[in-house]
Amino acid sequence: MTSPASAARRFPPDFLWGAATASYQIEGAVAEDGRLPSIWDTYARTPGRVHAGDTGDVACDHYHRTAEDIGHMRALGLDAYRFSLAWPRIQPTGSGPFNPAGLAFYDRLIDDLLAAGIDPVVTMYHWDLPQALEDAGGWPVRDTALRFADYAAKVVETYRDRVRVWTTFNEPWCSAFLGYAAGAHAPGRTEPAAALAAVHHLNLAHGFGARAVRETLGDAATLSLTLNLHVVRPDDPTSAEDLDAVRQIDALANRSFLEPVLDGRYPEDLVADTASVTDWSFVRDGDLAITHTGLDVLGVNFYSTQRVRRYVPDHEKLHADGHGRTGHSAWVAADAVEFLPQPGPHTAMGWNIDPSGMTELLVRLHRTYPGLPLMVTENGAAFDDVVSPDGRVHDPQRIDYLRRHVDAVGQAMDAGADVRGYFVWSLMDNFEWAYGFSRRFGILRVDYDTLERTWKDSAYWYRDLVATRTLPDADWVAPA
Ligand code: FCB
Repeated sequence: MTSPASAARRFPPDFLWGAATASYQIEGAVAEDGRLPSIWDTYARTPGRVHAGDTGDVACDHYHRTAEDIGHMRALGLDAYRFSLAWPRIQPTGSGPFNPAGLAFYDRLIDDLLAAGIDPVVTMYHWDLPQALEDAGGWPVRDTALRFADYAAKVVETYRDRVRVWTTFNEPWCSAFLGYAAGAHAPGRTEPAAALAAVHHLNLAHGFGARAVRETLGDAATLSLTLNLHVVRPDDPTSAEDLDAVRQIDALANRSFLEPVLDGRYPEDLVADTASVTDWSFVRDGDLAITHTGLDVLGVNFYSTQRVRRYVPDHEKLHADGHGRTGHSAWVAADAVEFLPQPGPHTAMGWNIDPSGMTELLVRLHRTYPGLPLMVTENGAAFDDVVSPDGRVHDPQRIDYLRRHVDAVGQAMDAGADVRGYFVWSLMDNFEWAYGFSRRFGILRVDYDTLERTWKDSAYWYRDLVATRTLPDADWVAPA
């Protein structure tokens, strides 16, 4: 059966199709050309922290294979490539001198991307804080935001003539809550009050980064911030308690980042909910004027949805938060919210597949912030890929996941959301944080023994989508 032609979903010609990566997840070369350790080098070396003791020491060796990787991007027909700058490469101790060799690496990368006709979409920070800054207190201390201001000013100044889209941070929620409350990410601390201080200092650092972009580039830049906003559903939609649990997590995970940046305030309910943990005195006079930058485009990373209920005290269980990464649940559970396992289907991360959450999130953002352009800066899925005897990786589940989520983006656009682009996570398999190399998100397979890249079927599928700007039919088949 073929679907009627009218069912084909078309995207605008200027819609940006891309793929995303992050420095520590792909680069390797952690001790080369002056780079010093980040919190992720340290965390990965700490026994028991990362699956199988994996580290980013070599990762995909992208540092030495940029030409090859750009060749793949070009063959995929990508409009844009989203990557992050490694602060510990550019300013190895996070303060003081900049490292010319580190700056030069991204200089070449940007030039080569432009030469290939690919728009560089730069993220200043994707979790690899210079270890020296963590030694001085990390994100819970204000000085880290001031150090970020210097680093941001330097990178904007260096690449100003060639980079248009500037994203300050990727998923500050993860840095704050997984890094400092749950301890499931670097630096592995479990200090709730420190996590909330980190929230504010990340927002403040965003403000400084945004100021650097605006002051240097004015209207020529597209200023962005990427958030992993949570789509939280009540276990029992008729229960006032469960709805209040949703409100509480929405404040903590979503509005704690959206409102300081887009409204110039912290949510009152957030401050009230966390009163037993902190008095928020780390928010100083004038800070919210700095965080209140507005955005030219909000980056949205979406993978799955969450379900919560009001915690029943004699039922003490700390479930993973649905992202398989126990986030605020580690301490919010004490504040009476329980994260529940989600019904399937699930990806290899254990994350539930729920494309309606993508539409819901984009439409909600459009309604709350009318006129704010949106861009899906990450979406994708890990599955247990296998190399077939024919040497190919047939990954119909990933294709199905991508197809349904891209369609969900289209549905949000139909409902009025101004979505400007979509970036698949990820260009290639890589170091998936605490899961090490055990989870594969790439549309290119990486053989970690030979470092060879192989196109999975999903890469051919994505190439066809990008080439036609039209969602391939459900019965699409990979070329022989
Ligand atoms: C996001 C991260 C990205 C990757 C995907 C799977 O939270 O930004 O680096 O790990 O999840």
